[in-house]
Amino acid sequence: MSRHLLTIRDLTKEEILGLIERALEIKGLGGQTSSRLRGKTLGLVFDKPSTRTRVSFEVAMFRLGGNTLFLGKADTQMSRDEPIKDTSRVLSRYLDALAVRTFAQSTVEEMARWCSIPVINALTDQYHPCQVLSDLMTVVEKKKELNGLKIAWIGDGNNVARSWINAAGILGFRLVLACPPGYHPGTDMVEWAGESVQVVEDPREAARGAHVINTDVWASMGQEAEKDQRLKVFTPYQVDQALVDLADPDVIVMHCLPAHRGEEIAEDVLEGPNSVVFDQAENKMHLHQALLEFLVAGPGK
Ligand code: CP
Ligand code: NVA
Repeated sequence: MSRHLLTIRDLTKEEILGLIERALEIKGLGGQTSSRLRGKTLGLVFDKPSTRTRVSFEVAMFRLGGNTLFLGKADTQMSRDEPIKDTSRVLSRYLDALAVRTFAQSTVEEMARWCSIPVINALTDQYHPCQVLSDLMTVVEKKKELNGLKIAWIGDGNNVARSWINAAGILGFRLVLACPPGYHPGTDMVEWAGESVQVVEDPREAARGAHVINTDVWASMGQEAEKDQRLKVFTPYQVDQALVDLADPDVIVMHCLPAHRGEEIAEDVLEGPNSVVFDQAENKMHLHQALLEFLVAGPGK
């Protein structure tokens, strides 16, 4: 039976650490290429735009000797209401894995139910597991280990934040999220994660002494109509130099990108010495390569 990656909770602690280790190894070997997925095809069903996730998955697949097929929102009969269960069974006959970027988490769950090939969540409204796997890789790359770190999330309790909560619940590192009232990530998740995860409303409380500061856009894809309202609510949550000054002197500042300078992050912080955002973006490719090996190629190197 195929393994799917719909949330980080589909992986064990050992599997997450193994993926990080392998991705760092691939990177250390200069983006190792192989023919492990020769003759295999990764389909990318994307209902939302993407630069990093799409391109990094495609290049990762090419580096493994495989091919990709990009299917945008209007390209399949799903746009004309062909049922997910039919599309999933048909695509499983042609493809070897599917990366899906869409709105509802229930869509990737339904695809996984009917696909006989691995389904990878490449972002939904609820979760962005691949992003946080590669972000964990970046933290390990820069800080050597996760234990003993204070990781701060400043801003919206969104899909990326929820995947960070899943990771903290499984791996046990300390995650402090600062989110405005009404934009918390959801108490059930926080309760599930246990004592590793704390949600506060003061961004300074989260940033104080932090070894990692993470942020993301205030209006995610699909929330465009809420943008003006969100801009007002989130203004005190900008990651600016004053906030960074409260953190550990060697803090790394992360953003999954795309960034809105002057909104969730100040230009001088994004471009400043603590920012690791472009290494973070690169690492998506290495982590996706490790993930495709794990889900599609199986054991071995
Ligand atoms: N970080 C991320 O997922 O970027 P894209 O939307 O460009 O894929
Ligand atoms: N939270 C953002 C992440 C983009 C990569 C969104 O969903 O639009």
